[in-house]
Amino acid sequence: LITIPVVVHVVHRTEDENISDAQVKSQISVLNKDFRAKNPDKSKVPAVWKSLVVDSKIQFALATKDPRGKQTTGITRTATTVEEFGPDNGVKSKKTGGVNPWPADRYLNMWVCNLSGGLLGYAQFPGGPTKTDGVVVLFSAFGSTGKVNPPFNKGRTATHEVGHYLGLRHIWGDRNDCTGSDFVADTPPHQQANTGKPKFPQITCNNGPNGDMFMNYMDYVDDASMFMFTSGQVARMNATLAGPRKKLAGL
Ligand code: ARG
Ligand code: ZN
Ligand code: CA
Repeated sequence: LITIPVVVHVVHRTEDENISDAQVKSQISVLNKDFRAKNPDKSKVPAVWKSLVVDSKIQFALATKDPRGKQTTGITRTATTVEEFGPDNGVKSKKTGGVNPWPADRYLNMWVCNLSGGLLGYAQFPGGPTKTDGVVVLFSAFGSTGKVNPPFNKGRTATHEVGHYLGLRHIWGDRNDCTGSDFVADTPPHQQANTGKPKFPQITCNNGPNGDMFMNYMDYVDDASMFMFTSGQVARMNATLAGPRKKLAGL
């Protein structure tokens, strides 16, 4: 079992954005359920794909020691004057109204803030610059209690973004013409992002009879409609933790 130490940086201007410790903890609990296939809604995985759902043996815990070895709650709080952050890493630097990461080789940094343009979150893939490494999530899409807003109120934005952080691509391969790939063999070919609450099956790219695996965390459906990673995706995330993100796993 691998435990990833997490620091959550709450960057707030309004009271709503200064989410509670309880809301932060609810997100950690969602991650632990989703990554260990202990999410109750996995019962909704179509029968044909049930055997692909496996425990990744990856879990998450708020850091108990800060970079200097002092006791911490694993939550930092920073007031800002920035109304909305964009996808430009602004929240990750003090200079631009955010807060700098803790050493990214040892902590998963998660920034929670207000984001512009309906953006729910974004992540950095393994192997990028340490100064911007980690994931960012909109305050109202973080966790499953408190200031969360449906239909993104079940903590799945962070599940999706941490998937990217551990090396996963969008399930459709980001090309919208059936030529894209997520480099995972057990996820079917899939034309483009699905949104909302699709009904099974959704056939594209000659992938019948089962169609798109739109209930995968790496699609774009509503939180209540996504509930699985596959064993191929789990293998890819574990390869990231054995390779480029080795120090995170304490290996
Ligand atoms: N990066 C994606 C976005 O901002 C995240 C999608 C998350 N999906 C979800 N159901 N929570 O659109
Ligand atoms: Zn994504
Ligand atoms: Ca695939």
